[in-house]
Amino acid sequence: MKIAKILELVERESRKSQLESLLGEQFSILDTLLEEGSLFLEKGRYLLNKDAFTENMLRFVLGMNIRKLDSCHSTNAIAMDLLDQGWEGIVCTDQQTGGKGRQGRTWISDSGKNLLFSVARELPVPIAEVAKIPLFWSAQIAEVLDLHVKWPNDIIDSQDRKIGGILSAVHSFSASSTKVVIGIGLNINQEIFPADIPNASSLKITKGGSFSRTEVLKSVLLVLENSWKDPFSVWLKRNRTLGRRIKIGERSGIATGLRDDGALLLDGYPILTGDVELIDYGQS
Ligand code: BTN
Repeated sequence: MKIAKILELVERESRKSQLESLLGEQFSILDTLLEEGSLFLEKGRYLLNKDAFTENMLRFVLGMNIRKLDSCHSTNAIAMDLLDQGWEGIVCTDQQTGGKGRQGRTWISDSGKNLLFSVARELPVPIAEVAKIPLFWSAQIAEVLDLHVKWPNDIIDSQDRKIGGILSAVHSFSASSTKVVIGIGLNINQEIFPADIPNASSLKITKGGSFSRTEVLKSVLLVLENSWKDPFSVWLKRNRTLGRRIKIGERSGIATGLRDDGALLLDGYPILTGDVELIDYGQS
């Protein structure tokens, strides 16, 4: 019997004796789940431990193909290798030793506190439209977590502090579809950030309280399935960039709009890549 099926039975038949008789000789697998922390026993009942954040638990809760590693160099690199082998799914880790950010930066994250994952998938999006995907996904994530976006795809709070980011890469493409790796880093329960990242935040800092990484991952992965029709409508609603005075490299001006291909219009001039500095902090 598959682990996911067993965990499903746990949810339905959580009494220890009932479950053991249902599973027959296979009940020893419960020991494995207890040992890895996916299950715990309370007053004669098996209960799921969603904080365990194990591969078995995530597969069950998310119902998706998922690889979970305790530590790895970068989930994006692993997802790329898995796509080479014809695999599609989610690669997730507690810790990255070489996490990559946009513009050649590194992505730093405390071990076991945040979400670090990559979606490896063939999407029905032609290569010419691929640059829109991270804008679409960052906005979907901002919407479900009640946060905001900064161009192109930073997930920020209402004080312009960065909570998450997306780094995407193309694996291969055909006439109508593209195989992509979309890497997403979301700060969840981290409370202290290095001094050289002064404008970082997490869900915990911004909203208060602690968050279950499993539950946040579940809600984020669900919205990523949303329709790709009209990809920028949610971005336009959630953005804290347009209408503001901004700086990109040496250029500064007013962010006047978003072009059809996802380029930012700076005083009407299209910008395709770069980092936006929001100058008039606190105003939207
Ligand atoms: C950014 O600079 O805003 C993008 C950060 C993207 C970080 C994520 S964490 C999971 C995935 N693996 C990586 O190496 N990078 C992305």
